[in-house]
Amino acid sequence: MISTLLSRRGGADGDRGPGLVYGADYNPEQWPRSVWEEDVRLMREAGVNLVSVGIFSWARLQRAEDTWDFGWLDEVMDLLHRGGIGVDLATATASPPPWLTTARPEILPVTASGATVWPGARQHWRPTSPVFREYALRLVRKLATRYADHPALVAWHVSNELGCHNVYDYSDDAARAFRAWLRARYTTLDALNHAWGTAFWSQHYTDWDQILPPRLAASHPNPTQQLDFTRFSSDALKEYLRAERAVLREITPQVPVTTNFMVMSGTKGMNYADWAEEVDFVSNDHYVRPGPQDRDELSFSANLTSAVAGGRPWFLMEHSTSAVNWQPVNVAKRPGDLARDSLLHVAHGADAVCFFQWRQSAAGAEKYHSAMVPHAGADSDVFRAVCALGATLATLAPVAGSEREPAEVGILYDWESWWAGEQDSHPTSLLDYRQEALDWYSALLALGIRADLVTTRGDLHRHRVLIAPVLHMVPAALARTLTRYAERGGHLVTTYFSGIVDENDHVWLGGDPGALRDLLGIRVEEFAPLLAGESVELDDATTGGLWSDGITVTDPRTEVLARYRTGVQAGRPAVTRRGTGSGSAAYVSTRLGVAGLTALLPRLLGPAGVDSELPAAVRGLVETTVRRGADARFVFLVNRTDETVTVSGMDGEVLLGTPDAEGALALAPRDVAVLRQAAGRGTSSGAGAR
Ligand code: GAL
Repeated sequence: MISTLLSRRGGADGDRGPGLVYGADYNPEQWPRSVWEEDVRLMREAGVNLVSVGIFSWARLQRAEDTWDFGWLDEVMDLLHRGGIGVDLATATASPPPWLTTARPEILPVTASGATVWPGARQHWRPTSPVFREYALRLVRKLATRYADHPALVAWHVSNELGCHNVYDYSDDAARAFRAWLRARYTTLDALNHAWGTAFWSQHYTDWDQILPPRLAASHPNPTQQLDFTRFSSDALKEYLRAERAVLREITPQVPVTTNFMVMSGTKGMNYADWAEEVDFVSNDHYVRPGPQDRDELSFSANLTSAVAGGRPWFLMEHSTSAVNWQPVNVAKRPGDLARDSLLHVAHGADAVCFFQWRQSAAGAEKYHSAMVPHAGADSDVFRAVCALGATLATLAPVAGSEREPAEVGILYDWESWWAGEQDSHPTSLLDYRQEALDWYSALLALGIRADLVTTRGDLHRHRVLIAPVLHMVPAALARTLTRYAERGGHLVTTYFSGIVDENDHVWLGGDPGALRDLLGIRVEEFAPLLAGESVELDDATTGGLWSDGITVTDPRTEVLARYRTGVQAGRPAVTRRGTGSGSAAYVSTRLGVAGLTALLPRLLGPAGVDSELPAAVRGLVETTVRRGADARFVFLVNRTDETVTVSGMDGEVLLGTPDAEGALALAPRDVAVLRQAAGRGTSSGAGAR
């Protein structure tokens, strides 16, 4: 769908064939009219073919309750259309204007301790406010009606990063909506009292109106109340998305609707696996956080977005050409980063590469955030790199529309386990779900093994090996699925603090790992987390941190792959694997980190017959992904290092990159190459357990 967005509507350049989308958020309202013509000229020079317009334009579109001003936007839309540039038009509802917050302050969110979130920044609105919704949907209707037939319009962009700043609202509106949500979930107060375990600390409810969001309390709020509030908050924003979408679909049923997700941002409040089906195509935003795993994290984010999108192409709505403005120190990108970062998203299924933003602001909170046209102007390395990337993306047009080819290894990423596993009053407050999952991913990259992030909504049986780090919440149905997976030949790998609770956050009794105890053939009587900085040695020369378990093997088919050598568990099993049916289920009871997992993984992957598809010399130096189209297979090779890496022995037509006389590809530092192979080649998909 994304690859045909532009060809559907044509534009001044006529009907284009499918291709990759290239562009940015465009905020012309920050600039005088005289700059707009130059913008379009430079966009054409850079190969930009789509921009997102109007994201923060509410105050300029509606000057007062009944004063509308669309003239400037008409002009921008016309200008872009004449320039052959499509528009992903925002519904402009992300930041309500001062006249509205002054007239209707009841739309402002409230924090857990009862403070008002005042206007002055953005996204100061309650997801459940009926008043906000009324005003916002009126604006959406106006925009949709006005631009329904505008030839530049190719997609709708609902709000912006829903929940980035306002996912948790504890207002009275939220309390009312939370009660309605709970009634729908539990029907009776008895069921709610059971689920929330209200026998504890005298919390028994006798009337729905007694129930509140988990506002500032004297001690730890009820854990299931917290969990349900997180679920509710994600659902409340999803409902809001649906409300805007309903208006758009009513007026422009032919125009696809999206909204930009943030699958790996600081906010974990939105369950995007659950939101994905609400949009016509999935969009994501990603910003590099400098650090030792920064590009692994980028790859992880892109891979997870692909999982959320069901393996179909998705839209990179925002990333940065260079520095951002919101980190403690905002590091500029090095030469080659701009292209490599963008192409790594494409490698994982992005059919669109867009930046925040087109022209770097001269004023406002984001004036030091990079853009496609920096403060220095078009005569700059950034703009030259932007133009070069535009040309590269044009070369890669044949990739557009291709889907991800399933890998043999899957890594399960589950929002419910993320939420539940990191709650307060747990054995450790140091557990970091995302980091544990990322470490497994980094270890696979270090071994040159392709892996797919998967969600519990995906087909878990598709992969020969399924790694489920910290799968804390395992309802009975998921336990059955995983058991069947292993019995039918899949190789499940899970870790400490997995299988512990059901969907109500109630502990599975009888010993850990609870719901997975029988499948794993082990039993743990008591958690043994480690203090910060404390570590334990294993007898396979790896080192564990964060956690250890006192494991007893309960099944003769369970083998011990490694034992603790030091610490209170010395001599006891640390890593186990139980054969079951034609598959197996392995358990890693401590946090091994990237180095430890890299050492351990070959032993876990061995029984599944999984190995790298890369030539031995470049494993770990190069990341590979595969996208599969109707008649071709595209192999991406991404240089993960700051050195030149030569890849030989890979066949296929070189779509991107320069082969030497022997056909080897020399990848400069941070460089990307793409090979096109005939569609029939490669590993068989669906190679897992059925
Ligand atoms: C995103 C947001 C953009 C811009 C960007 C800066 O979260 O959607 O509007 O603020 O961050 O990195």
